[in-house]
Amino acid sequence: MSPNLFDQWRQGVVDQVERRLDQCLPHSGHVPTVLHEAMHYAVKSPGKRIRSLIVCAAADLFGCDVERAVHSAVALELIHAYSLVHDDLPCMDDDDLRRGQPTVHVAFDEATAMLVGDALQPLAFNVLATQDTTISPETRLQQIQLLSEAAGSLGMVGGQAIDLAQVGLRMSQAELELMHSKKTGALFLASAEIGALCGLAYEESYQGSLRGCARDLGLGFQVIDDILDASSPSEVLGKSAGKDLRDNKPTYVTSFGLIRAQELARELAERTEENLLCLPRSGGYLREIAKLVFNRVY
Ligand code: IPE
Ligand code: IPE
Ligand code: MG
Ligand code: MG
Ligand code: MG
Repeated sequence: MSPNLFDQWRQGVVDQVERRLDQCLPHSGHVPTVLHEAMHYAVKSPGKRIRSLIVCAAADLFGCDVERAVHSAVALELIHAYSLVHDDLPCMDDDDLRRGQPTVHVAFDEATAMLVGDALQPLAFNVLATQDTTISPETRLQQIQLLSEAAGSLGMVGGQAIDLAQVGLRMSQAELELMHSKKTGALFLASAEIGALCGLAYEESYQGSLRGCARDLGLGFQVIDDILDASSPSEVLGKSAGKDLRDNKPTYVTSFGLIRAQELARELAERTEENLLCLPRSGGYLREIAKLVFNRVY
């Protein structure tokens, strides 16, 4: 696929997602105004929108256009934004920089940051429940089930709990992989499956490859996150660099070193490629997203 074609598609997805996010967030003039202002601040700050791109790319593989898939993308962004707000809280990673701006608890206060997360979460499920009426009620229910499982204690929140419990401890590669697959991988997997479900041509025969691809993309995304934390400056990352080592977090880099972590990321990129080849159009836009994920610098 030509880089131009992908860039155009990507920009189209991001524009539609930003518009829909604005529409589904309660207006900041509504009471309680500070909470709504903080929700906008958390969600509309300049994120990469990777999960949205995965939703829309998976939908596209199975015959669904961006317009029909955009609500699902928005739901993923809302859950992701909430996870970042809580991840940055003093009781978790205690970070003051996110997406190049002060974190929500710094710009507002801790209680507001808690409530922002609490409010974004049900909003995500509301968006899935009330989305595009051409998506059947059965499909919406399946999507809600997938997202609730991915976001919960067996998925993202569970991964975050492991992350906090393991501070200062050694972890084996298998343990690290499990933690990363939960805290980051679960929402990547949900993005791909929820997106694919928007497409009427999604068949069970593709499920294995799609899941395999999304799992490796999610794990790879977090491995690269660990690498960037150790090798890129805060100005590029838009978040505090070198924080994992300072906080004694077990990561791929603190556990195995930078070189081995880079090797593991390359292995994951190769495995992703194998699964992409089994998808329609050799993975279509998803193939380009994999390149973004594995070559990213922030
Ligand atoms: C950051 O995710 C948290 C991780 C799972 C590593 P992103 O890097 O996708 O964050 P934004 O949305 O672009 O800010
Ligand atoms: C966070 O992982 C994953 C989430 C579920 C939010 P990190 O703690 O490494 O993410 P960053 O580096 O703060 O973005
Ligand atoms: Mg964290
Ligand atoms: Mg963090
Ligand atoms: Mg990190």
